[in-house]
Amino acid sequence: MQPIRNIVVLTGAGVSAESGIATFRGPGGLWEGHRVEDVCTPEALRADPRLVHRFYDLRRAALADVAPNAAHVALAELERSWTGELLIVTQNVDDLHERAGTHRLLHMHGALRSALCAVCGTRVAHTGPLPPGSRCGACGGAALRPDIVFFGEIPYAMDRIVDAIGTCDLFVSIGTSGAVYPAAGFVEWANDRGAATLELNLERSAGSGRFDESRLGPASELVPAWVAELLAGQ
Ligand code: OAD
Repeated sequence: MQPIRNIVVLTGAGVSAESGIATFRGPGGLWEGHRVEDVCTPEALRADPRLVHRFYDLRRAALADVAPNAAHVALAELERSWTGELLIVTQNVDDLHERAGTHRLLHMHGALRSALCAVCGTRVAHTGPLPPGSRCGACGGAALRPDIVFFGEIPYAMDRIVDAIGTCDLFVSIGTSGAVYPAAGFVEWANDRGAATLELNLERSAGSGRFDESRLGPASELVPAWVAELLAGQ
């Protein structure tokens, strides 16, 4: 196997679960009591903007009550200490990676503390509630919406993600069910490139069979142990 220099880490809801943020596919397949398609599609936003905005207002407000856990902290430590390339791609819309100190980070599904203008595409940092019809400071359109990549929309930064996976030696997936593409397909891209692939998840996921190795357990234990192992061998 080639020596490991370039690493891409993909994180999902499981990395924030122990901080108290609900995963998407929890009991009954509901996300905080809603079907994902009722709050996470362009059709839902058009049909019931108040519901969708309110849903994300609550998720945004809830960020004030949570803190990074040992998994976020370990990934930030990896960024500080790893001498090769590292990119963390998160599907999460919380800001716990940033708050743990991670900088080399892409939010491929958007961010709760951001608003997106549906008219001009401007993205602006946003805290507090975001009522439907809020005005964009750039174009003046009354069209600010939660900056969340809904089903059917193209995730952010795909060109940078493709490039990073195309040159990585190790791809690590943490706390994601492997149910949502394109992220669920990243492991195949890494396999095609000849990278080593590792999954860290609470339980076997839809994609487990596609990784060289799957380690099962809570992220707060598995991630610090893996980071320590990697840094010790550097
Ligand atoms: P899911 O809720 O689908 O999956 C969470 C995964 O984390 C599951 O495989 C759990 O077993 C695992 N898990 C739970 N607790 C864990 C823990 N303490 N330690 C480790 N693993 C744990 O969430 P995602 O895969 O992130 O998209 O969902 C992907 C996308 O689907 C989301 O980004 C979102 C959603 O629709 C958008 O919002 C566009």
